[in-house]
Amino acid sequence: MTDTPSPTTSDERDEFALSCHDLKKSFQGVMAVSGATFEVPRGMITALIGPNGAGKTTVVNILSGMMRSDSGRMMVDSTDVTNWESYKIARLGLMRTFQLSRELGGLTVLENLLVAPQHQSGESLFNIFFRPGRTKREELANAQRALEILNTYGLYELRDSRARELSGGQKKLLEIARGIMAAPKILLLDEPMAGVNPALIDRIGGYILDLKAQGMTILMVEHNLNVVEKICDHVIVLAEGRTLATGRLSDLRANAEVVQAYLGEVISAGPAH
Ligand SMILES: Nc1ncnc2c1ncn2[C@@H]1O[C@H](COP(=O)(O)OP(=O)(O)OP(=O)(O)O)[C@@H](O)[C@H]1O
Ligand SMILES: [Mg+2]
Repeated sequence: MTDTPSPTTSDERDEFALSCHDLKKSFQGVMAVSGATFEVPRGMITALIGPNGAGKTTVVNILSGMMRSDSGRMMVDSTDVTNWESYKIARLGLMRTFQLSRELGGLTVLENLLVAPQHQSGESLFNIFFRPGRTKREELANAQRALEILNTYGLYELRDSRARELSGGQKKLLEIARGIMAAPKILLLDEPMAGVNPALIDRIGGYILDLKAQGMTILMVEHNLNVVEKICDHVIVLAEGRTLATGRLSDLRANAEVVQAYLGEVISAGPAH
């Protein structure tokens, strides 16, 4: 539990891939995040849970550098990345996916992976003009990698379809596939299973466990506590923009404040299956 959280010490930095301390963010005077403090253990799957409007997406926006916090600090590994731009944070190996998938509808599924943020020599004009061979080799390697990822996520057959033609579930898969194109070390997933059918929830859960087995650190926003119970090692509860508690889901079920804020229905329904 973290009632009065403290900043991370240097000893803890090996243990945590990502951490933040007292992040705050307001929109036109309304506090969306009002003291988010937590650590994300390396190589594990951490759930970020909390009621609608708790500030989860805003925290993901801040951690990925897509939004600036008003105050507070954040670290990736042992690097202070507070106020860094997203492309610089991505260079440290942190990528994120979006709650509302952001596929480019007019492009094919394969093209969506090829234009996903990553580090390509071809993005530098110098390389395009003076190292065309290297740029070409990278393009081929990227295409190869993209096809492998599409195959892993069951999207290979759809590689030439326009992204806008995919079903909601397929768009969720494409969103994750785009996120891992750059082989991140840390992946932030904002509701990767929202609105998908139970069979696909299980499949996506399996993919996330596979990413963990490959050594990736995952922070996922998730409302489905059955999923949290099945695949997450660690849980952060956010309520009204603040970290209410952290720990294992089983411990949080015994925390009266957490139950009141969020877990009530699940507790009264008994343990999740
Ligand atoms: N760009 C914005 N401008 C104004 N208010 C915003 C903006 N983004 C978020 N908010 C507000 O900040 C609060 C937190 O929103 P956020 O989207 O982070 O919550 P959330 O926990 O992700 O919710 P959900 O579970 O519904 O996705 C909400 O009150 C929301 O209306
Ligand atoms: Mg959200």
